[in-house]
Amino acid sequence: MAVLERSPTRTRRFGAGPEGEGSKMPCPVQLVCHETGVVQHGFYARGASVSTGIGVPDSTVRTERHRRRQGGALLLQPSTFGRQSGDVMTHQALEALCPPIPQKVESTGLDFGFLADLALKMVYADANCTTERVTEKLKLPASLTEELLQHLYREKFVEIRGLISYGNNRYGMLDRGWQRAQQLLGINGYIGPAPVSLSAYTEMVQRQSAARDPVRPDAVREALAGLVLPDSTVETLGLVAHSRRSLFMIGPAGNGKTTIAKALHNAQRGDIWIPHAIEVDGQVIKVFDLHNHQPVSVDGIGRHDERWVRIKRPIVIVGGELTIETMDLTYSPSVKFYEAPFQMKANGGTLVIDDFGRQRVEPHDLLNRWIVPLEGQVDHLTLHTGKQIEVPFEQQLIFATNLNPAELVDDAFLRRMGYRLTVGPPDKAMYEEIFKRYAAANGFAYDPAALTYVFRLYAAEGRPLRGCEPRDLLERCSDICSFEMLPKVLSDDLLYTAWSNYFASAPDRQQLEGSPLLASH
Ligand SMILES: Nc1ncnc2c1ncn2[C@@H]1O[C@H](COP(=O)(O)OP(=O)(O)OP(=O)(O)O)[C@@H](O)[C@H]1O
Ligand SMILES: [Mg+2]
Repeated sequence: MAVLERSPTRTRRFGAGPEGEGSKMPCPVQLVCHETGVVQHGFYARGASVSTGIGVPDSTVRTERHRRRQGGALLLQPSTFGRQSGDVMTHQALEALCPPIPQKVESTGLDFGFLADLALKMVYADANCTTERVTEKLKLPASLTEELLQHLYREKFVEIRGLISYGNNRYGMLDRGWQRAQQLLGINGYIGPAPVSLSAYTEMVQRQSAARDPVRPDAVREALAGLVLPDSTVETLGLVAHSRRSLFMIGPAGNGKTTIAKALHNAQRGDIWIPHAIEVDGQVIKVFDLHNHQPVSVDGIGRHDERWVRIKRPIVIVGGELTIETMDLTYSPSVKFYEAPFQMKANGGTLVIDDFGRQRVEPHDLLNRWIVPLEGQVDHLTLHTGKQIEVPFEQQLIFATNLNPAELVDDAFLRRMGYRLTVGPPDKAMYEEIFKRYAAANGFAYDPAALTYVFRLYAAEGRPLRGCEPRDLLERCSDICSFEMLPKVLSDDLLYTAWSNYFASAPDRQQLEGSPLLASH
């Protein structure tokens, strides 16, 4: 039997019409399945059970009216209805983590004064300021925003310039407000969605980490399907993805290290919540950015605290540009707030330190910087005041290098790496498989004679095979065919030209005839 949630607030009449407590008229209700997120609409008449036409055996119901009173929040409670194998874990985790809408200023985790200051900066920056517009920008419920704006009105910082609709006023700045806003902007220039507290952020990162779905071997195989790798490598990568321990990858250039790092990330399923920004000691650290974070639809999740954004698990790849400074909070003296460092942006996802050893920083210094976070899953960042804060460090960390690791890394660091993997060059059979795939991708029919010819070229030049070269050679073949308007056939001529253009060297064609096939692989 469906259960209608009883709440003291239901006894009050809401709005006009026959929906009051005394009425026996059916009122619209909303049934929320807390495992699937499915929302069903039905009708409730006092003393009757909920009728939805869907035969709900057990659920939690809240009336549409009550939902609206509560700022639109859906109550999320366990139910047995609509359980679907396969996605149960995901939805359960998702609902348990869905950040609830703050009903009062106290439940935002922020000071009233901090939020009022932020609201004032919003009125200052918006010539057509209304409650609705501030609500939209602050990402707080309208009732809460209006409370802040009314406070600014009482303090004579702003004036009310008219009523647009119930609870939606037009606001404008007063002289006292201008002065105050300018004073505030001199200290903290942040004008954007209300932040969350550092403790709320830390808790969310930890809860999401605990609730993550385990990575299964088929997900790893599927993610790595685009690469041709030895079984032992796939096995190791499966262990890395499943354990989320760090990985140190070494191997010659062009054999797929960066591609493996991205594929490993794709094996991690699920989306996460991150805040637009975090507040610490009145300072704001911006976390969400569209460059590193890809928002996903929240349809079916229900209403939530919009200070949080649901995103695909992030992957952040940093290369030669990495410095010790970029690993700390970046304070912009012009806007007077902080940007989170890239490792914090990667929380809940994957951080790839690519081309390790090519940074201008000493590898030893760089590695030392990671030892503490790796050990304790906590990173220490410094505010410009000198104060240190602790933020969670929860991500799959991957290092990749094509340099000699003996010259880069000391034992103290390697000891802290979960896994070490050498990504070597492909053997002839693997090369052939890669060649076949890229031939098809570039519109060529695979011809074993063409590959034999390519192997002769390698042998004549004494070049080692590389995983990237079938793609690179075949793409150049395709360029030539398209430019010269030739049929797409992998002739020796075509391969020779592509080879010369790619390597800027080629063996003598006369000597090539009858030269031995590549034997060393
Ligand atoms: N084993 C492989 N199977 C299929 N394709 C491969 C393989 N190895 C490399 N490739 C191809 O080569 C391209 C380049 O590889 P990638 O950039 O990942 O190499 P890398 O090891 O990171 O090189 P570098 O050390 O220069 O950064 C990939 O996008 C992929 O198309
Ligand atoms: Mg690379």
